[in-house]
Amino acid sequence: MIKIVEWTDEGVVMIDQRVLPTEEIYPCYKTYPEVAKAIKDMVVRGAPAIGVAAAMGIALGAKTLPDTLEAFDQGFEKICQDFAETRPTAVNLFWAIEKMKLTLEACKRDKLSINEIKEELVKQAIAIHRADITANEEMGRNGAALMPNEGVVLTHCNAGALATAGYGTALGVIRAARSAGKNLAVYSDETRPFLQGARLTCWELQKDEIPVTLITDNMAGHFMKLGKIQAVIVGADRIAANGDVANKIGTYMVAVLAKENNIPFYVAAPLSTLDLKIKSGEQIPIEERSSLEVTHIKGQQVAPIGVNVANPAFDVTPNQYVKAIITEKGVAYPPYTETLAKLFE
Ligand code: MRU
Repeated sequence: MIKIVEWTDEGVVMIDQRVLPTEEIYPCYKTYPEVAKAIKDMVVRGAPAIGVAAAMGIALGAKTLPDTLEAFDQGFEKICQDFAETRPTAVNLFWAIEKMKLTLEACKRDKLSINEIKEELVKQAIAIHRADITANEEMGRNGAALMPNEGVVLTHCNAGALATAGYGTALGVIRAARSAGKNLAVYSDETRPFLQGARLTCWELQKDEIPVTLITDNMAGHFMKLGKIQAVIVGADRIAANGDVANKIGTYMVAVLAKENNIPFYVAAPLSTLDLKIKSGEQIPIEERSSLEVTHIKGQQVAPIGVNVANPAFDVTPNQYVKAIITEKGVAYPPYTETLAKLFE
């Protein structure tokens, strides 16, 4: 299995996803601001992986804090704040920060020493990492039955091992379905502007010898109409209580096309991606990224200097396009306002 984010005594080791697939390098990020910058700069990306990296970054930062409780508390708050400001859309980031805060609270209640607190925070970050892999494997088992026995599944962006602690959400379901004997191949949208589909999804599927065909984003409708695609499965960055799904920009377009062509559109995500505090997708903050991601590809200018650019990193797919939401606790079907809440019971 590829190592995406790993805790080591020296720091947090992460595969640098910006340079894949041409280079496979694993730098070590030794301070918490370095980990926070790595999240912002997309060294590590994908909602669950961002959460895991943030938890480890917080544990790393906490190790350097002073030994008096008041100073520790202040420093801890600042570290959490710095991580909260890295990327706004994936709720797994805020879920992980909250988990680390709750761990600190529990340690204080138990009157642990500062050194013991530091150790507990490291343990919690490692536990979050492990739990994410287990959740993905369970999600895979839950979703495999929904996949066709044979044919092509389209995916958008990268919701694979690289976007998680390992195995993947949407790609985890495809992996599990294939392990269960289903004869599935994948069509991967390239996913402009950051090319997660072309660079990352194709790379990890090729490594696993899962047949994959790369298409540009504007080809999806064409292949659906030709009957070449039997199902669509994507991941999510945040799912509202009513089942509206924020995911990589372009997902909405794929979901509408799938409905028009009578193709089931599935979302696979862990419970840490569900944000039941918000009623609908309208309340999900959408990250706007640098215009350079659109005007340039790998440093090569592809648009005139000075042109106006919009670069929202995510869009929201309304719940009526989503046939089912696959989680580690089971599969939710509409009406999502009822079924998603039940997953937490
Ligand atoms: O901007 P990114 O690469 O972090 O966006 C990633 C996605 O949109 C994924 O589809 C989502 O996080 C689900 S990952 C299991």
